[in-house]
Amino acid sequence: MFGWLKNLFLPPGTIDLSPAFGRVSDSTVRPYVPKDFEGCCELYRLNEPARFPPGHLPKYEEALKSGSSLILVVEENNQVIATAGISITRYPSVSFGTLSYGLVHPKRQGQGLGTTLLLARLALLPVDLDGVCLFAVPKSRGFYERFCFSDRGIKDARDDSTVFLFANAYPDLSNECRSLLINADADIPRGIVVPTTAADPDEAKQKAAPVSRDGFC
Ligand SMILES: CC(C)(COP(=O)(O)OP(=O)(O)OC[C@H]1O[C@@H](n2cnc3c(N)ncnc32)[C@H](O)[C@@H]1OP(=O)(O)O)[C@@H](O)C(=O)NCCC(=O)NCCS
Repeated sequence: MFGWLKNLFLPPGTIDLSPAFGRVSDSTVRPYVPKDFEGCCELYRLNEPARFPPGHLPKYEEALKSGSSLILVVEENNQVIATAGISITRYPSVSFGTLSYGLVHPKRQGQGLGTTLLLARLALLPVDLDGVCLFAVPKSRGFYERFCFSDRGIKDARDDSTVFLFANAYPDLSNECRSLLINADADIPRGIVVPTTAADPDEAKQKAAPVSRDGFC
């Protein structure tokens, strides 16, 4: 069963790819390399006003340098025009991908780049994950809710203004994302392993709420 019809049968709370149909851009998506640092920071600065908490840029710079997430970029005419990150966290009983720092150049928003980078990240996830989460800033929340990410009532322990959104994954998710990207002639990286953290099992019990290791989205 394909396309939107299949989505009728998904349980509630599962990632719904239908907002991506017809919206994927034919971009080349590639992994971040150190020479992209300034271009990514510029995208952050351009999107920062009234969106990200004041003084957060150094955390973003740290995320770029640390390698704790896989960062993807889209480049055009030697300029980074979009970027986004992903990592995996594994607890003994639950494993999930975490999206971070989806940033599109303001002049290029609304042209499918955010959707393309979302699919490119999901396409790299292993099939056994329970779900995908992110810590959304208020202005990006609606973008992810369209794909059925939802507030499960879990607070971000670090910041009241962000909301923890989660969506269940399903075994074919990665393949479906890959197909949507290939059908739109997007060029995507292959054979890349998303950085994985094996979380301390006691951490989930001790903390009343999760804290993002990877930043906002
Ligand atoms: C959020 C963001 C990544 C989306 O990327 P994009 O390339 O603009 O999005 P796309 O072109 O793929 O998709 C656009 C669709 O998403 C919708 N959309 C975009 N942002 C939205 C939001 N905050 N709430 C609801 N819908 C949103 C648009 O309305 C459009 O749908 P439509 O054509 O049905 O109206 C991008 O706008 C961005 O970089 N924003 C600023 C930085 C930011 O907030 N990043 C997220 C936190 S790190």
